[in-house]
Amino acid sequence: MIGDREHWTNRLGFILAAAGSAVGLGNIWRFPFVAGMNGGAAFIIIYLITIILIGYPMMITEMALGKKTQKNPVGAFKAMAPNSPWWLVGALGVFTGFVILSYYSVVAGWSLAYIFRAIGGFTPDMDFASLFYTTIGVDIGDGPNVITPLFWHLVFMALTVGIIASGVVKGIQRWVKILMPVLLILLLILVVRAVTLPGAGAGLEFYLSPDFSEVTGRTFLDAIAQSFFTLSLGMGAILTYGSYLSKDTTISDNGGWVVGLDTGIAIIAGFAIFPAVFALGFEPGAGPGLTFITLPAVFAELPAGSFFGFLFFLLLSVAALTSAISLLEVVAAWLIDEKGWARSRAAIVMGIIIFLVGIPPSLGYNLLGGFSFLGMDVLDTYDWFANALFLPIGGLLTAIFVGYVWQAKKAQEFANDPPGAINIGDWYGLLIKYVVPLAIIVVLIFGLIDTFSG
Ligand code: PFF
Repeated sequence: MIGDREHWTNRLGFILAAAGSAVGLGNIWRFPFVAGMNGGAAFIIIYLITIILIGYPMMITEMALGKKTQKNPVGAFKAMAPNSPWWLVGALGVFTGFVILSYYSVVAGWSLAYIFRAIGGFTPDMDFASLFYTTIGVDIGDGPNVITPLFWHLVFMALTVGIIASGVVKGIQRWVKILMPVLLILLLILVVRAVTLPGAGAGLEFYLSPDFSEVTGRTFLDAIAQSFFTLSLGMGAILTYGSYLSKDTTISDNGGWVVGLDTGIAIIAGFAIFPAVFALGFEPGAGPGLTFITLPAVFAELPAGSFFGFLFFLLLSVAALTSAISLLEVVAAWLIDEKGWARSRAAIVMGIIIFLVGIPPSLGYNLLGGFSFLGMDVLDTYDWFANALFLPIGGLLTAIFVGYVWQAKKAQEFANDPPGAINIGDWYGLLIKYVVPLAIIVVLIFGLIDTFSG
């Protein structure tokens, strides 16, 4: 024990918690549709390169900052650079966690609702677009449905608060040890079901043979943005989880496990989705609706489809929950460390505020349906600020801080101590000082140009 800060009781606990943070809606909902819209396998190749050049070094960097300082993001920057404005990078992280969780919980709430939709049964004669619209609250003739999206958003936030209020070991570690294996098993069952469907081959073909004609500059932007979001980087979630690590754990190896698990699960999720989508003649590039409209229609056509649909939305909800707790933990850790709040108070008060901040995106399809920011609805606007601005800016400043203020060489030595299976070489300095910042700057600029040019 270092002071009275709680610590993961073993290495597996930490790896599962960090992988639980990383694996979420980003892997199962976002990755397949982004890959589908960017040409399948071609996207995956580019994505794997960004994970190696940007994702892994950033993962190591954030874990090292947390383990070194044993503090929340604000406290970590204060400890490393006292009397300087660097703590603002930590503050931006806490704020970003707050914003992401507010809308993440809305989408996770739809997933919870779909668990019950599946229990009610998915049948081929159903209109799945209408089913989705009623779930998110669109008025499809019987008035705007305000209650459903708000109710599930509330249920999801309550689950998240419950786990965080129970603590790092009794809450987070205990639950990820149950939920992560459940997630893997559910996913494998779905993959076996999907790849054994007649006609699954066309989906495998799409997913595995790269078509570079679909690759544009946009593909690279999408790959980098996706790697930050999916690995929970750029806002201090991994830093915060790293702060509960004790001295005897090796960051280079732990980081490798987390990145490997997250990437592996995203790719496996594609194996559950594309064969099924192709086998039944649906569109792989269906966009965000792939999960909530296309997939239920796919399940409806399968033998025991409602059961597999139930498993799928349970999987999605579990994955979202283990990510949401890491988002709330960032905010809670800041209040606990810096403001001396009791853990349960931090979890409950912040949970309520985040629920309230999530009301606008939750009602963005009925009462606030008229809202538009550059053509985006409320939820997409929140998501745009978080993904196109806050995460890249947070990641950029963190990389610069560690590369030039802490010094890449020192972070490298720290991440290799005690020595593990992976030895981080001098390439780390090259990546964190030059490649990562440059790549993020390009993403920021072109992302902004892209958005504002319509
Ligand atoms: N990594 C999560 C996902 O892929 O769904 C999302 C996320 C969680 C982003 C935690 C950021 C974070 F701090």
